[in-house]
Amino acid sequence: MASNKMWYTLALGFLLPFSYAHTDFFTSIGHMTDLINTEKDLVISLKDYIKAEESKLEQIKKWAEKLDKLTDTATKDPEGFLGHPVNAFKLMKRLNTEWGELESLVLKDMSDGFISNMTIQRQFFPNDEDQTGAAKALLRLQDTYNLDTDTLSRGNLPDPEHQRANGNMKYFEYIMAKEKEANKSSTDAEDQTEKETEVKKKDYLPERRKYEMLCRGEGLKMTPRRQKRLFCRYYDGNRNPRYILGPVKQEDEWDKPRIVRFLDIISDEEIETVKELAKPRLSRATVHDPETGKLTTAHYRVSKSAWLSGYESPVVSRINTRIQDLTGLDVSTAEELQVANYGVGGQYEPHFDFARKDEPDAFKELGTGNRIATWLFYMSDVSAGGATVFPEVGASVWPKKGTAVFWYNLFPSGEGDYSTRHAACPVLVGNKWVSNKWLHERGQEFRRPCTLSELE
Ligand code: OGA
Ligand code: FE2
Repeated sequence: MASNKMWYTLALGFLLPFSYAHTDFFTSIGHMTDLINTEKDLVISLKDYIKAEESKLEQIKKWAEKLDKLTDTATKDPEGFLGHPVNAFKLMKRLNTEWGELESLVLKDMSDGFISNMTIQRQFFPNDEDQTGAAKALLRLQDTYNLDTDTLSRGNLPDPEHQRANGNMKYFEYIMAKEKEANKSSTDAEDQTEKETEVKKKDYLPERRKYEMLCRGEGLKMTPRRQKRLFCRYYDGNRNPRYILGPVKQEDEWDKPRIVRFLDIISDEEIETVKELAKPRLSRATVHDPETGKLTTAHYRVSKSAWLSGYESPVVSRINTRIQDLTGLDVSTAEELQVANYGVGGQYEPHFDFARKDEPDAFKELGTGNRIATWLFYMSDVSAGGATVFPEVGASVWPKKGTAVFWYNLFPSGEGDYSTRHAACPVLVGNKWVSNKWLHERGQEFRRPCTLSELE
């Protein structure tokens, strides 16, 4: 028994460093579901152990009861009892062998199965770093979504519909305030300056605060006048033969920078395929260290991602072609399709997708120039949180399964458009799958279609 345990420990000790590399569990939901199954297996094993322990105790109890009765009778009249030869024999037998057997039973270790299961499963357990990561994620959610500890610990999370509605609320409040103002014939000068300073105050909020507000569905900076110029339409990719007969639904999400959303642009089956291809390859997402230009992990980007090439699956290839058709941009110079999964608390703080002038050229190796545009598929609905927000301009885009958003990161001159700074809000409930395609400058020299430029 003991040697068995030792063998396990030895074997695992030697094999593990090669067979298993620890992955940050807290960053994605995919690996967390494995943990739930691990725990389920352990519970089954623990129950087996309890059963074995109970049956052992039951046997011991029976023995004790039997002996209790027997010794009672024996002690009442020892001589009469031993006068019976069978009783004398049985006493010998009990003391010579049966008590010994009972002793072995009492000493028997029933925990072997459970302990070896624990040893095997322990290799898949999260470590201290995972636990700290999960704790930080909770703090992040509390901060971003203004949750008090009580709400959080009782699991009363905000209603996501309500969260989205917050944006509308602000919009209606704005309209009502405007109407009220129009009805007031005399404008109070003092009132005016007060309002101006308020507007200024909002403009000068640190980025962090703007980001958090937008994540909560507050602080949207769309005016009714601008909103009137946002449309939806059927789009045929600028008379692309593949879309003339079946144009796709396109909506303006924002005017400056122009962000458009394509609806029903990736099917559920395609999403499943992309997720299945990505799952075994998901690993902690990295960022370019601005000092060294090297890739590293960072607290401000918490998600898992994988890259898929068009060569490995007709589905990925078909998706790439779709992006090329609908953006009018050459995908042969684009990066591979990136698939990302954000678990609860997963986020990507405000950043630019393009490389700035002051950076060591992050995309130099690629030789395809800067990231001219971003195409982002939403491959899941998110129960709460997880919006893509643009703090510079006060825009937020809510994930909706099967849709994609697209924007240019660079002006036609090649200058970076700083208003495209954006972030992925922490996921509050559920999990978020996206995939994105970063299109590069090379190959687009004669391609940029006017239909997808900024709205004038
Ligand atoms: C990105 C990004 C936004 C999102 O991966 O660069 O900005 O909503 N993602 O996931
Ligand atoms: Fe981005």
